[in-house]
Amino acid sequence: MHEFVTLNGNLREPAREPHAQANGHGPLVFIQTYGCQMNVSDSQTIETMLSDAGFGFASRADDADVVLVNTCMIRESAEVRALGQLANLSALKKTNPSRVIGILGCVAQAKRKEILDSYPYVDMVIGPDSYRKLPILLEERRITPQGTPGLLETTLLRDELYDDIVPRHHGGVTAFVTIIRGCDKFCSFCVVPRTRGRERSRPLPSILREVEMLADQGVRDVMLLGQNVDSYQWEGRDFADCLLAVAELPSIHRVRYMTSHPSDITEKLLRTMGAHEKICPYLHLPVQSGNNRILEAMNRPYTREHYLHLIELARKHVPNLALSTDVIVGFPTESDAEFEDTYSLMREVRYDTAFTFKYSERPLTKASRMNDDVPEEIKVARLEKLIELQQQIARERNLEQLARTTQILIEGPSPKDAAMWTGRTPCFRPVVISRNGESVGDLVTVQLKTLNGFTFHAERTPH
Ligand code: SAH
Ligand code: SF4
Ligand code: F3S
Repeated sequence: MHEFVTLNGNLREPAREPHAQANGHGPLVFIQTYGCQMNVSDSQTIETMLSDAGFGFASRADDADVVLVNTCMIRESAEVRALGQLANLSALKKTNPSRVIGILGCVAQAKRKEILDSYPYVDMVIGPDSYRKLPILLEERRITPQGTPGLLETTLLRDELYDDIVPRHHGGVTAFVTIIRGCDKFCSFCVVPRTRGRERSRPLPSILREVEMLADQGVRDVMLLGQNVDSYQWEGRDFADCLLAVAELPSIHRVRYMTSHPSDITEKLLRTMGAHEKICPYLHLPVQSGNNRILEAMNRPYTREHYLHLIELARKHVPNLALSTDVIVGFPTESDAEFEDTYSLMREVRYDTAFTFKYSERPLTKASRMNDDVPEEIKVARLEKLIELQQQIARERNLEQLARTTQILIEGPSPKDAAMWTGRTPCFRPVVISRNGESVGDLVTVQLKTLNGFTFHAERTPH
């Protein structure tokens, strides 16, 4: 899963619901979302709940009666960014003291008391499993006189799935669908099990219902989400069964998923991927380190050899497989030689994409009891070395695609040239082609002709 920042550009799109417009029909909410796809999906779930409760949406915090910030703390930089945003909110409170300010997400869960103590203008702090209470808390807060202590709702519920709530779709052919929440892996560096609680799978029928409802709104490409999708279990159905069931829905063209764990991924899943053309040949399989001692210290219970064996199996079962990974450099005690094992693994696997991170000590984690002893300049040098290698491999992997025939899913007009469509290959590579009577959401068979940066230019192939 990848941390990214959503600056609410999505909220500028016209809302579908009649009362969800900035038209004076009820208090207006502005949500700023930081963090991974799970946070983006949660913000969309909150939008549905608030919209159903009669709230509308503002496209700027200045215009909103309620400002919510959905936070991430996966690395220190993410937390600093989220808290920096909190500091900015004090100005919003000054210009309108009755404006309600709420902090959501992973920082809210892990640092609940500190936020209320350090940021007195924050009205509520609500963790990822307590969003269902948001409409009622907002109602209460709005009728409570100013100056009352902020509200805390951060219980880690074991069973919250928001199963009956379809996240608000913002248009487009792609949508995220959460199939499993929480994480039981407790990798020693990672704060997520502390912020998102225990693992729980969503019933398959409700996943399928949600995908069908999204398909009715034009969605053709679904990304199934979870911190560890391979742990999915519902009434004897595993993740491969779930993936196949979604792929078999006639209105859906493509299914993807994120994230797999090398300890739990099964050959059945790889076989299922290879056997069904609607399942994208894309696998995100975080390795974190190529060294066995570091993997053990990270509480990642697999070896380099097992990981490489999985990659071999995946490539055997899934033709033209695209691979991506996450890597951490500078985990406590990582030596130069141990880092070189990560470097050599990346050179051996030849990922299409790799997300590389410097180790960042996180509160409440097992690794935070270790001394963060790899100096910053060494972390930076290791990171740069991996990035340089990966850029070269990514370029080569892209060039290998040229002249290939593939299918692209049309996403919309190219932002640079309205006479062109932009679409993506099954491996999610961006492609532009000239428009020729197709519609958004259509699949078109093309040959990849040229590469400009990371974007391919393609031509239709005769059927
Ligand atoms: N289950 C998800 C994890 C989401 S976090 C997954 O396995 O993809 C995404 C990535 O952030 C992790 O894979 C890891 O590489 C990185 N990460 C997590 N904690 C970190 C930390 N303390 N310091 C640096 N990177 C970290
Ligand atoms: Fe974090 Fe590990 Fe769970 Fe991923 S699998 S969320 S890295 S604890
Ligand atoms: Fe996601 Fe960040 Fe939480 S990566 S799970 S929002 S700590």
